[in-house]
Amino acid sequence: MSGDFVKIVEVGPRDGLQNEPYTVPTSLKLDLIDRLGETGLKVIESTSFVSDRAIPQMADAEELIAGLQRRANVRYPALVPNERGYDRARSVGVDEVALFTAASEAFNQRNINCNIEESLRRFAPVLHRARDDGVRVRGYVSTVLGCPYQGDVPIGDVVRVAEALFEAGCEEISLGDTIGVGTPRKAGEMLRAVSQSIPMAQLAVHFHDTYGQALANIMTCLEQGVRVVDSSVAGLGGCPYARGATGNVATEDVVYMLEGSGLQTGIDLQQLARVGDWIAGELGRPRSRAGQAVLKRH
Ligand code: HMG
Ligand code: MG
Repeated sequence: MSGDFVKIVEVGPRDGLQNEPYTVPTSLKLDLIDRLGETGLKVIESTSFVSDRAIPQMADAEELIAGLQRRANVRYPALVPNERGYDRARSVGVDEVALFTAASEAFNQRNINCNIEESLRRFAPVLHRARDDGVRVRGYVSTVLGCPYQGDVPIGDVVRVAEALFEAGCEEISLGDTIGVGTPRKAGEMLRAVSQSIPMAQLAVHFHDTYGQALANIMTCLEQGVRVVDSSVAGLGGCPYARGATGNVATEDVVYMLEGSGLQTGIDLQQLARVGDWIAGELGRPRSRAGQAVLKRH
């Protein structure tokens, strides 16, 4: 494991800010993305092209993408729920998108107002067009370790949905513990099952830290070979359709753990800690543990 590179997918500007109770000005979002781009992060999920009635915080998606100061070595994917979202994203030059569905029917109904089958039907034309357009597509499976409405989620359902996204053409599948209820053992079992049919190199893990298990879950998944980890600066976020879910695991905490375990991220932790400290101050949110410690030490 030592010396390996782990790709961090920073989801704070999207997964984090979508959940803020007050609308965050576009200029602040752009400032955040720009500062994150300076830290060595290679993938920054920027926004989502969803219904503004469903997620008012992402209503400025076009304006945000138009205002991005793109860095040559950074990718800026955006979430799209359907072809309408894809059209909107493409109209402002988005060149990488993420589709999202869930392993739980109940969660999908609340989140995207349709069942799993219907979500996959909606994705088909997006995937078809993305292939023609040379647009990279990631697929998210939410509620892989539990659902706020259904409770337990059978591993077989996670495998089935992940396989469907992969076979339909998603290049990377992110497995999301949307409400952060997973434990290392369950996370490991789930990942092992999914990796029977999808190569580990094309899997990512996405943990929320509701019960403080996220780092332990990530370490278990790293030991199994996963090398893509989603996280959010300062642990921003939650999920509007998952009451009680706290933010994503903090990027600062993940980078500290990875680098301290001999894994490479290419991220400057001190600089990242400064960004985390700044955005937490702007939003009146708590700082990440590793971020605070790093800043105190220096
Ligand atoms: P719907 O009501 O089923 O769709 O919503 P519809 O086709 O019937 O359209 C309803 C209205 O939405 C119409 O407007 C459409 O034009 C509009 P009206 O005519 O009523 O004024 N509409 C759109 N507007 C803008 N952009 C679009 C779009 N599509 C339709 N793309 C829909 C279905 C999916 C659109 C809606 O439910 C929605 O936007 N949901 C948002 C869900 C969301 O963003 N959730 C958070 C992200 S997922 C997440 O956080 C989990 C993740 O982090 C992983 C993890 O943690 O596990 C990824
Ligand atoms: Mg999430």
